[in-house]
Amino acid sequence: MAAPELIRILADGRCHSGQHLAEQLGLSRTAVWKQIQRMQSLWGLNGEAIKGKGYRLGQPLDLLDETQILHQLSPRAASLLQRLELFDEIDSTNSQLMARALSGDKRISACLAERQTAGRGRRGRSWLSPFAANLTFSLLWPSPRPPQQLGGLSLAVGVMVARRLRALGFAAVGLKWPNDLVTPQGKLGGVLIQLSGEGEGPSNLVIGLGLNVQMPPGWGQDLDQPWIDLAALGHPPARSTLAGLLLSDLLEGLSQYDSQGLQPFLADWQALDQLQGKPVRLLRGDDSVSQGISAGVAEDGALLLRTAEGLQRHHSGEVSLRGA
Ligand code: BTN
Repeated sequence: MAAPELIRILADGRCHSGQHLAEQLGLSRTAVWKQIQRMQSLWGLNGEAIKGKGYRLGQPLDLLDETQILHQLSPRAASLLQRLELFDEIDSTNSQLMARALSGDKRISACLAERQTAGRGRRGRSWLSPFAANLTFSLLWPSPRPPQQLGGLSLAVGVMVARRLRALGFAAVGLKWPNDLVTPQGKLGGVLIQLSGEGEGPSNLVIGLGLNVQMPPGWGQDLDQPWIDLAALGHPPARSTLAGLLLSDLLEGLSQYDSQGLQPFLADWQALDQLQGKPVRLLRGDDSVSQGISAGVAEDGALLLRTAEGLQRHHSGEVSLRGA
């Protein structure tokens, strides 16, 4: 399909003549014009026609770049990563790596996409992934730990991401159990962890991160909760830089988690917890609801809820501020 090639040429935000585009793409000028129309309908990008001059995008795009991503990896992270794949478009980076894991491919792999057509969120929700706007990536991590020894992993992953964002100057970033990246103004990102593995054997983890970097104008209006992007909080680095830094942190952090568990992440999780001491409700998998005061987390990552019946420990569910 020519659209990604056309998008790559127009990504600089400058005006390109129809003639020049036709030559570069090996298409007729009419075919270029049709591709510009398709860019809008298929990719959600606005190609403007400038009379007598050519075409340009409404705004330049910050496309992902493999070299720039790899450049951010620490030596240790670079030695761990066995494969990096970049897609212009994919159904879901998590689904892609889950399928790999199930087919027996156990290489430590990262998969990034400019956009997802069937991005997945927690609890069966979908995840909005406009082209070249946010970060959507997944990591396939074969862990020696059996599934029942992965308690608290999702909290550790949240801490890895939040630490990096704060180090980059986004001081308002906190966590909502188990691993939502939040700020007082709304949700900034989320983590979806999928697992294949049985009994005592090792586990294949797919860890997916969706992070709002700069939502395009007009997007996100139908989302069911308040959200925010990094651009509204400060000046995010280039998407490739950010992706590389986060990938590096995840590779190093997961290796630390494999050997030491949640313990090295626990104090930071407690410090980043946005709901500590607040009245919350927890919607459980069976649709029942518990209410209480959020009292942080236990050593194994369980949510502690102080209720009229006493202190409860919860291992799954969706927590929200009561009255919010
Ligand atoms: C959440 O609901 O908070 C978790 C969202 C996780 C979204 C990311 S985007 C990259 C990866 N691929 C997916 O399909 N989902 C995750």
